[in-house]
Amino acid sequence: PASGTLPDSPGTGGETHQTAGGKSPVLTTQQGAPVADDQNTLRAGPRGPALLEDFHFREKLFHFDHERIPERVVHARGFGAHGYFENYKPLTDLTRADLFQRAGEQTPVFVRFSTVAGNKGSADMARDVRGFAVKFYTKEGNWDLVGNNMPVFFIQDPMKFPDMVHAFKDEPDRGFPQAATAHDNAWDFISLTPEAMHMVMWVMSDRAIPRSFRFMEGFGVHTFRLVTAQGKSTYVKFHWKPKLGLQSVVWNEAVKINGADPDFHRRDLWDAIQTGDFPEWELGLQLFDDAFADEFEFDVLDPTKMIPEEQVPVQIVGKLVLNRTVDNFFAETEQVAFCTQNVVPGVDFTNDPLLQGRNFSYLDTQLKRLGGPNFTHIPINAPKCPVMNFQQDGHMAVRNPKGRVNYEPNSWADAPGPRESPTAGYRTFPEPINTPKQRVRSETFADHYSQARQFYVSQTPLEQQHIANALTFELSKVQTLAIRVRMVSHLLNIDAALADTVAKGLRLKDMPAAAAAAKPTRADLKPSPKLSIVKN
Ligand code: HEM
Repeated sequence: PASGTLPDSPGTGGETHQTAGGKSPVLTTQQGAPVADDQNTLRAGPRGPALLEDFHFREKLFHFDHERIPERVVHARGFGAHGYFENYKPLTDLTRADLFQRAGEQTPVFVRFSTVAGNKGSADMARDVRGFAVKFYTKEGNWDLVGNNMPVFFIQDPMKFPDMVHAFKDEPDRGFPQAATAHDNAWDFISLTPEAMHMVMWVMSDRAIPRSFRFMEGFGVHTFRLVTAQGKSTYVKFHWKPKLGLQSVVWNEAVKINGADPDFHRRDLWDAIQTGDFPEWELGLQLFDDAFADEFEFDVLDPTKMIPEEQVPVQIVGKLVLNRTVDNFFAETEQVAFCTQNVVPGVDFTNDPLLQGRNFSYLDTQLKRLGGPNFTHIPINAPKCPVMNFQQDGHMAVRNPKGRVNYEPNSWADAPGPRESPTAGYRTFPEPINTPKQRVRSETFADHYSQARQFYVSQTPLEQQHIANALTFELSKVQTLAIRVRMVSHLLNIDAALADTVAKGLRLKDMPAAAAAAKPTRADLKPSPKLSIVKN
C-alpha cells in the first residue's frame, strides 16, 4: 500500500483494508467522527438489509450524490492558473487604480482560459473563440478583465445573446453537435445576423485553433474608461500580447489532436507551469479621447468593431506571468466567478450596449451556478484585501458582520462598523446623459462588412486560403441549401474572390446576389486612413 498498514486479516468481504498510521491520518466523517470501516455498510447480519443508522454510509453517499453543480451556460470548458501582474511604470496620469500606481508592483491574479460553445467535457482543439478571463486581486478589490482571444464579438446588443448561444450549442431535439459551430442552427443564426460577419471572419481564421493558450492574444473587446484621481477620463481598449507570439495549428492537426488528446490545451499549460516554463503576456492599452471617438469612422461603443493599431498604437504597461497550477481543479477553476462588473476605483464602463448587458448577466448566472449569494466567500473568489460590509446570511454564509451592528447609520460609537469613504471609495465617471430612451443604436453600427473585409485582406494568402477552407468545410455540414446561399451572399460583401471560392467548394449552381448592406455609413463617408491590421 502507498501509506498506512494492512491489517493481518482481510475484511468480512475479503476486501483490502488500508488503516491509519505512518503518513495516513485517521479518516473522519464531515462531522469529524473517526471512521473504523470505510468498506462495509452496517447490516442486520451477514445477509440482512442495510441499516438506516449507518450515518457514515449515508453521509458519504449523500455528499457524492450532490457533487455536480451546473456547468457554465457558456465557456463551460476551461483551465485556470495562478500568477501575478507586474506594472512597468506609474500610470497616475491615466488612472487612480491602485495596481497601476507604482513601477514594479506585483498584483496576484487568477486566469481562466476556455472554449465557448462546447460543454465541460468537450475537446480543447475545437474551432471556437477562446475565453481569456483575468481576476486581479488588487488592494482595492477584485478587478475582472473578462476577455476573449478575438477583439470583436458576434452581436451588438445583449438581447440577442440567448438566441446566439442557443443556436451555437447542440440542437435541442437531437442534442448534437456538442462542440462545433458546423451545423444548420449556428449558420442559420449567423446568416440572419449580418453584424456577426466581422467576428465570423476571425472565427474562420487560424486564430480559432490556437496551438496552445500560451500563444494566444487576449482582448477586453469593449471600450472601457480609465479615470484619474482628479476625475479625468480616457477611453481604453485592453490587449494581452503573448511573449511567445501567436501560433495556431492547421485544421488537419486540430482534428487529429482532438482525437488523440482532447485535453491538449490544458495539458500544455499544466506541463509548462509545472516545469517552470512560465507563460507571459504583456498588457497593452489603446488609449483615446472624445475627439478621437468623434472622428473615428465607427462608434467606439460598437463591440463588433475594433480600432486598428495603426490608428491607435498599443502601449505596453505591464506583464502577466502564470507561475502556479491550481491545487484543486473544482475548488479553483470550476468555482471561480468572473464578472465584468467587478471593477476597482479608476476603471469604469462605457455605454457599449453589450458590456452593459454582460454586467447584469454574470452575477445572475453565478447566483445559480454557485448555489447562492455567498460565492464571494469561496477562497478563489474572495478578495485579498479587507472586506467589510453589513451584508449577511443567505446560503453558506461564512463571513457575517462581527458584533452587534449590522446596519448603518448607527449610534454605536465604540464599534460602529465600516462606513463609506467619499475619498477612497469608487466614484462613477459622471458622464452626461441627455438622450431619448429608445431601442436603436447609432448609425455606424449598421456597417457590418467594412471591418470584416479589413480583417480578411490583412491576412496572408495562405491564411486567406485557411479561411476559405474553414467556411467551405463548415457550410458543407449545413444541410439547408438556403442557409449556404445566404452565407455566400454575405461573403460577396466581404470579398468577391472569397465568395467565389466558397461557392465553388459548396458546388452552388448559381452565385446569389450580394446581401443588402446598409448605406451610407460613416465609413463610406470617411474612409479609414489605412486598411490593415498590425500583427505581432
Ligand atoms: C462567461 C454571458 C459576451 C467573455 C459567461 C457566462 C455568462 C456570460 C452567463 C458564464 C459565467 C459563469 O457561469 O461564471 C455573456 C453575455 C454576453 C457575453 C450575456 C453578451 C451580451 C462576452 C464577451 C466576452 C465574453 C463579449 C469577451 C470579451 C466571457 C468569458 C467567460 C464568459 C471569458 C468565461 C469566464 C470564466 O472563465 O469563468 N459569459 N457573455 N463574454 N464570458 Fe461572456
